[in-house]
Amino acid sequence: MAQRNLPRDNPLRRWLHDDRRHARAWRRHRRRGLPAPSVQAPVSAPFRWSVDRYPPCRSGKDNLLVNLGFDLAGRTALVTGAGQGLGRAIALRLASAGANVAVNDIDAAAAQNAVDEIVSKAGAGIAAPGDVSAAQDVAAMFAVATQAMGGVDILVINAGIVRGQTVDETSLDDWNHVLAVNLGGAFLCTKAMLAQSVRPGSGGRIVMIGSVVAHQGTIHGWAHYGASKSGLHGLAKSIARPAARTGMTVNVVAPGVIRTDMLADNHGEDGVAALAENVPLGRLGEPEDIAAAVHFLASDAARYITGAVLDVNGGFYIRA
Ligand SMILES: NC(=O)c1ccc[n+]([C@@H]2O[C@H](COP(=O)([O-])OP(=O)(O)OC[C@H]3O[C@@H](n4cnc5c(N)ncnc54)[C@H](O)[C@@H]3O)[C@@H](O)[C@H]2O)c1
Repeated sequence: MAQRNLPRDNPLRRWLHDDRRHARAWRRHRRRGLPAPSVQAPVSAPFRWSVDRYPPCRSGKDNLLVNLGFDLAGRTALVTGAGQGLGRAIALRLASAGANVAVNDIDAAAAQNAVDEIVSKAGAGIAAPGDVSAAQDVAAMFAVATQAMGGVDILVINAGIVRGQTVDETSLDDWNHVLAVNLGGAFLCTKAMLAQSVRPGSGGRIVMIGSVVAHQGTIHGWAHYGASKSGLHGLAKSIARPAARTGMTVNVVAPGVIRTDMLADNHGEDGVAALAENVPLGRLGEPEDIAAAVHFLASDAARYITGAVLDVNGGFYIRA
């Protein structure tokens, strides 16, 4: 179907225009002799929307996401620990909003599996496996993202681990390990992100996944986990001002109790049920609830928000 045969206010006309732009960009990429990346070219809007939960606005000239500033087409994202749980839901959400997504996980097969799901839903993604607590792995992740997608506009620092122990059961090795992944990994990823230049108009974004425990402490001990999450909130606030000079925003999403393997593994079935009873909204959070908050903070709609902590906990903990 030719773009010119469509009425000017038909949204498909804009989509076809975008498609041709993507194709031209792809040809330029090949002409420069860069190796063919395994990331797929950005998909055209009709296909993206056809698999999405965010249909285009039929009544307007443009689609609803673009009008509201939530469209991420042309942006690139790197999500750490995205092989499962919250990270995977975040990666899928950003891809469905149009971003090209590099999926990191220490488990390479899980990262590839998440990419396969993104691609099967007509999104664009590439696996960037590695351990966020190892400087050389973080450098490699960013290199993959830069080579395949031209850089990282949106960094989501999600990878995290928890060990169910009280302080007296915690060895120094356990302490160091949890801090190295949850906080050291955030530091390494942030450093790599800040070392890149923000692409004009890309709205550089860092979103860290903190936790309600940073406000209220942990319930069953786990002091290393609590300390790492408090440190993460402090890290985000401390870099928000210097990062703002480059036009980048830095924010935290602080989940409450969200239905993932991490929750089930560490609280057991009864423990999870007891936690759910304490949520005023009457249910556990779903990974998609966190993904929606990350999408907002990553979008143009949140361009004037930085240094903030967004609680997503169903009322489990309400801050003054
Ligand atoms: N689930 C909750 O209720 C909850 C609540 C508050 C905060 N969080 C935070 O959300 C984030 C995700 O939690 P989740 O529940 O999805 O956990 P999860 O255990 O289901 O998933 C974590 C993912 O991170 C990966 N990972 C672990 N160590 C890594 C490393 N060193 N490098 C790269 N990847 C690594 C794992 O392989 C896994 O795929 C964590 O930071 C967690 O602290 C979760």
